[in-house]
Amino acid sequence: MRYFYLCILFVTSFAHAKNEHADALYSTHCAACHGAELGGGVGGSLIDGIWKHGASNDEITRSIAKGNAQMGMVAWEEKLSAEEIRALVIYIQENEAKAIAQKQQVPVPKGNELTRTQLHDYRLEIFVDKGLVNPWAIAFLSDGRKLVTEKAGQLRIIDANGELDPKPITGIPKVMDHGQGGLMEVAAHPDFSNNGWIYLGFNEGTDSKCITAVVRGKIKDHAWVDQEWIYRPDRKFRSDSGVHFGTRFVFHEGYLYFPIGERSGMMEAQQLDNPKGKMFRLHDDGRIPQDNPFINTPGALAEIWSYGHRNPQGLVMDARDGALYSTEHGPRGGDELNLIQAGKNYGWPVISYGMNYDGTPLVSMTEKEGMEQPLVYWVPSIAVCGLDFYTGDLFPKWQNDLLVGGLASQEVRRVRIENQKVVSQEIILKNVGRVRDVATGPDGKIYVVLNSPDQIVQMVPASE
Ligand code: HEC
Repeated sequence: MRYFYLCILFVTSFAHAKNEHADALYSTHCAACHGAELGGGVGGSLIDGIWKHGASNDEITRSIAKGNAQMGMVAWEEKLSAEEIRALVIYIQENEAKAIAQKQQVPVPKGNELTRTQLHDYRLEIFVDKGLVNPWAIAFLSDGRKLVTEKAGQLRIIDANGELDPKPITGIPKVMDHGQGGLMEVAAHPDFSNNGWIYLGFNEGTDSKCITAVVRGKIKDHAWVDQEWIYRPDRKFRSDSGVHFGTRFVFHEGYLYFPIGERSGMMEAQQLDNPKGKMFRLHDDGRIPQDNPFINTPGALAEIWSYGHRNPQGLVMDARDGALYSTEHGPRGGDELNLIQAGKNYGWPVISYGMNYDGTPLVSMTEKEGMEQPLVYWVPSIAVCGLDFYTGDLFPKWQNDLLVGGLASQEVRRVRIENQKVVSQEIILKNVGRVRDVATGPDGKIYVVLNSPDQIVQMVPASE
């Protein structure tokens, strides 16, 4: 109840941001002293990683807002709004990160050569070279086959020998290929070898009215059969927006967890009577668990597990302690890794570390009481997509590290988690394509589903 009514108060809090782009703000107000490329002038460099007055968000914000009259730095809070100052902080951080990244070596695999990383060297092998169009997710079946979704609405099968079957599975539900939405997630039930259930997450409806839904079914002789609906949001929630559909699946102890993005409805992510911008928990047959956090909240959807999400496109559970992690597409500079807990509010769009994609200011607040902080956020955005723990035997020093995919950044990051906190990160794969999904295979290899080129590649350890 508390969460539900509080959220109404936030509606007005981000509406005042002005529309000047961060780069225009920078060239108008800052470039004269800090240099057109931020490399310094009368004022120091803002991209050399050296911060006289501190490098944290709060410290940089303070430097800009309060200035330093004696040294000739203006107190910008008199001229710029809090949202504009926040956008400038992100803009500076983006440029600083890019400048630092340029000096670093990135592990770009080449041909059959070994790619070196801090803890393991690997070779990148092509698993599926041709025949896929916009592959979105991969699932491993206990009989050695693999399933792959294609966004436009085809479910494909790769046989135990690694051959892509030219014929898609027939009879899957009608998929609406609209904007970022289409046929997205596929996963096998943990007890697949006994029950045969396959789950699909897809966009349902028409161009002007559609939303993410979940079904399960079985595959017999190339056909989708015995279909059951697991989650089908009320038609009134369908939208024509082409963005932020989610979704990924995690099964655990008879439950299914999955998110739906906010479909650019922004504040809808804060509204508990609405499925957009939410994480859900259901029994794996679609029933609503009676101990879900909002089961007794009047007006709230009882299937909600957490809220305040923008567009989660990675979801995985740590087998060691049952902690649930999600990566979520934020605005520009605001991609997040979150520890997902029952009933919690992840803050979108009231708090965020990002600005609008066109560079206009979004919000000034990065924190607020009652809203969760991300474990980590990425500036610049990497466009997080696909997430798994490495749990195979082939790369022992990566055991239980998170593998985080990035579409725009074309990378896989290895993120070490200790006591549910991020302790280190390393890019282990770069620039071979847009990473749509990443998964530990039952054989211990790391499978990376790429878009442009549309391929599936495998990271395999360096053999002696
Ligand atoms: C008239 C020249 C001038 C302009 C215009 C100016 N700055 Fe500065 N800025 C300075 C100087 C000089 C310093 C060093 C102040 C000091 O040593 O304390 C500085 C310091 C800073 C710092 C702190 C750097 C550190 O190492 O901690 C930040 C951040 C900063 N400026 C951002 C901006 C931004 C953003 C703008 C535009 C909105 C801007 N400045 C416009 C001259 C300028």
